[in-house]
Amino acid sequence: METLIIENPNESDIKEASRIIRSGGLVVFPTETVYGLGASALDPEAAKKIYAAKGRPSDNPLIIHLSRAEEAEKYCYTNEKFYKLAECFMPGPLTVILPKRDIIPMEVTGGLSTVAVRVPMNEIALELIKSSEVPIAAPSANISGRPSPTCPIHVINDLGGKVDAILCGGECEVGLESTIVRCEADGTVSQLRPGAITPEMLSAAMGGAEVIDLSTRKLDDDEKPIAPGMKYRHYAPKAKVTVLVGDREKIFKYMEELSSKEEIGFLTDFETAKKLGKNAFSYGKRDSAKEMAHNLFKNLREFDEHEEIKQVYADMPKLQGLGLAVYNRLIKAAGFDVREIK
Ligand code: TXA
Ligand code: MG
Repeated sequence: METLIIENPNESDIKEASRIIRSGGLVVFPTETVYGLGASALDPEAAKKIYAAKGRPSDNPLIIHLSRAEEAEKYCYTNEKFYKLAECFMPGPLTVILPKRDIIPMEVTGGLSTVAVRVPMNEIALELIKSSEVPIAAPSANISGRPSPTCPIHVINDLGGKVDAILCGGECEVGLESTIVRCEADGTVSQLRPGAITPEMLSAAMGGAEVIDLSTRKLDDDEKPIAPGMKYRHYAPKAKVTVLVGDREKIFKYMEELSSKEEIGFLTDFETAKKLGKNAFSYGKRDSAKEMAHNLFKNLREFDEHEEIKQVYADMPKLQGLGLAVYNRLIKAAGFDVREIK
């Protein structure tokens, strides 16, 4: 398939893309979190094309993207907590799971009776949804298992030739996927995936109501995940990744001793990376979870361009706020290989 690649799309480009969506095609678009691989959320055949293009298991449901939170009522059964969250974070990097209405096909929700809704904070995305006049189902626009795409080149590398069009809108601001919460009819709110909207922010938006965190545990082998995507290996570069924890000085020494080896790579802050040399990639300033979030997936993809690197040692963010979301992605990329340096 020939893929139309559109840099800095204007109004008429977005109109053209919306015609592709309405006729059952696939369009990649930017959001503030990561790029999304979009198709009409009302068209079961289009949903199947998404799974095929990504190589994604069909029991892993898709998020539907709306241009306004008020639209949600057409596609799912909303409740009071949803509107409180929507008021503060829609548009924004938050996805809410609610019971679905019949209009959303089971192909979109991987057979579940709930649907995930989100209103992205990105002009191109919002214009595309508005002019398509349908909600847009979109997972992250990467090949299943690869790091989510935060730059047009990531999308072109993964999905060029597999989608009808790619709308390029520069680097995604946040760099990690949206926070996912489930809002039950009885008022219970639980977090399934951490992101830029933290539990503290969610709780404050709901007047201090509790947010149960279901996102941080590793699942047992026979355990059924609540967000089906949680069970699959994610974000993995070709090299093995190990996350180092412990005393800073000791971690630096450990990295320094290994830094002469061709096959070892590092993911660390700017200053440390400079000292370690050529196989060290920097996510930015030490202790800036925001910079680490913005750069993490890009960094993970960079290692793939250095075939000689077989093992990556990664520094850890501070475990608070957005740092927890970074850590969640990092340990998944590492297949939960976390090593304490003593
Ligand atoms: O920031 C984002 O959320 C990006 C952009 C493109 O919007 N999208 C994204 O989609 O990350 P995806 O498909 O890569 O991740 C969606 C996650 C999956 O883990 C999936 O299992 C979960 O959301 N999910 C979707 N619908 C669900 C549902 N009804 N119940 C439970 N989990 C659901
Ligand atoms: Mg994804």
